[in-house]
Amino acid sequence: MRNCTAEHDETGSRTDFPAVPEHWGRNRRDFLRILGSGALAATLGPLAGCSSGNASSRSDELRTQLLADERFWADVNAMFPLNPARRFMNIGTAGSMPKVSLDLFDLENRAKAADSLSGYTNLLTERTQVAPGFGVDPDELAFSANTSSGMCHAILGIVWNPGDVVVTTNHEHPGGDVPLAIAAARYGIEISRVALPVGNNQTAQTYVALFDDRIRALRTQGKRVRAMMWSSPTYKTGTMLPIAELMEVARRHELISIVDGAHLPGMMAYDYSGFGMDFMSGAGHKWQCGPGSTGILVVRNKIRPSNPLPLPNWYPIHTSSWTPRARTTNGTATYDIGSVITACGSLHTPMFRALVSACGVWDQIGRKKVETYDLTLSAYLKELITQLWGADRLYSPKDDPKLVSAITSFNPFVNAADVLNSVKSGQFVTRMLSDYNPGFVIRNVNVPVIGAPSDHYVVRISTHLWTSVADVDRLVDSMWDLSRKMG
Ligand SMILES: Cc1ncc(COP(=O)(O)O)c(C=O)c1O
Repeated sequence: MRNCTAEHDETGSRTDFPAVPEHWGRNRRDFLRILGSGALAATLGPLAGCSSGNASSRSDELRTQLLADERFWADVNAMFPLNPARRFMNIGTAGSMPKVSLDLFDLENRAKAADSLSGYTNLLTERTQVAPGFGVDPDELAFSANTSSGMCHAILGIVWNPGDVVVTTNHEHPGGDVPLAIAAARYGIEISRVALPVGNNQTAQTYVALFDDRIRALRTQGKRVRAMMWSSPTYKTGTMLPIAELMEVARRHELISIVDGAHLPGMMAYDYSGFGMDFMSGAGHKWQCGPGSTGILVVRNKIRPSNPLPLPNWYPIHTSSWTPRARTTNGTATYDIGSVITACGSLHTPMFRALVSACGVWDQIGRKKVETYDLTLSAYLKELITQLWGADRLYSPKDDPKLVSAITSFNPFVNAADVLNSVKSGQFVTRMLSDYNPGFVIRNVNVPVIGAPSDHYVVRISTHLWTSVADVDRLVDSMWDLSRKMG
C-alpha cells in the first residue's frame, strides 16, 4: 500500500492539496475546500494528496465521466425521499422507493380501501408494462414476493429424480441454497459446488472452465447432471458470473439454467430473452427500488433462438390458477406461465402497481444509462481502493468488464489478517454510520476463500443512482480514516 502522509499548516489546515482540476465538479471542489479548511478530521483526504500512476489516471477518467452528467444525477437523487444525514450504500440489501411510486402506492391503497377492492388478478396489464424493460414477453415475466420466493418457484417446481445433480457455487445466498436443500431432502437431488475465486485476478473464462470441468468430471463418474444454478452477481463479492458464457455451458451440456439475479433488476439493462436462461429470479425491492415483498421472475416459456433446448418439466408450486397443459416445443407459448405464477389468491395490487411505477421511472431514465452510471461509480470506487489500499484488497473483480457489477467488496484493515475477525468487521460497518457525518450505510459479508482457514469478513458497498462522485470520495476518505483509527 502506498505511504501517504498529509501535511498541515499551523491552523491544522491541509497544505498539500494539488490544484483542483477545472473539470472536477462543484461537489469535488467543495469537498476539497472543506478538507483544506480542516473542517474534517486532519487525517482525512488521502485521495487528495496521493495520486500516482495508472490507477490515478484511470480514476481521473472515471471521475470525469461521472461528473459529465452530475446535474442529471442530482435531479434523480431528488426523486428519492432519502434521509440526507446518511449515504445509502447497501442497496444490495434494500433500495428506496421513488416519491412518485410512494405516492401511487398511497393512492392505490386508499382507493382499494375506499371501495373494498379485492386483489384477484394475474396482473397481466402490469406485467405487460414491465416486460419490455427486461426484453421478454408478458407471459415470460411473473411477479413474485422477492428473489427467494422466485427461487422457490423455480427450483421446487422442477420435476427432479433422485440422483439428479445441480452444479452450483460456494458463494450462493440462502434464497437459492435453501430451496436446493429442500429439493435434496425431498427429491434426493445432489448438489455439487464449485469453489469461486475472489479478487481481480480472474476472467469470464475462469467461470466457464470451473463449471465445464466440473460437469465433465461428474459425467465421467456416471453422475446425472441436470441443472446449473448460480448468482449473477454473487452477494459476497459482487462478481458478475458471466451469464452469456455460462449459458453456453448450459446449452452445451443440455442443462436447466437457474440464475439467482437478486441484484439484476434496476442495476443491469439485460435482455433476458437473449440470454435464454430457464429462470432468472430478481428482487423488486433492491436496485429496482420497488416496495418490499416484490420480485421479478423471468421464466423461459417458449423456444427462442437463444436457447433451443426443450423447456424443463416444471409444475407451479404456489398458485391458485392452473390447469394441466403441456409446455410448448416451439416458439409459441401454450400458456401464460407468468400469470400462473403471479396469480395466487388475492394479491396486494397497490404494491405491484408501485413496482410498475418504479420500473417506469427506470425505463424513463433509460436502463442502460442507470447501468452505466452504477458500474462507473463502482469502477471509480474500485480504482480509489486500489490506489490507497492496493488491488490485492479487492474481493471484487475490476478489470474484466464481463465480471463487474455495482457491488464492491474489499478488506479495509491496516492488518490484512483482521479480515478474519468478524467482530472487527462488524464494528467497522457500525462506525462508518455512527462516526461520520453524513453516516454511511454499508454492510459486511462472510466470504469463503479458497485455501483460507476460515471465512473472510469483507465490507460491501453498493453504489446506485442516488450516489454522487463526492459521496464516493467521502466514503473512501472516511473508510481510510476509520481503518487507521481501528489499527
Ligand atoms: C444473491 C442473493 N440472492 C437472494 C437474496 C434474497 O433476496 P430477497 O430478499 O429478494 O429474497 C439476496 C439478498 O440479498 C441476494 O443477495
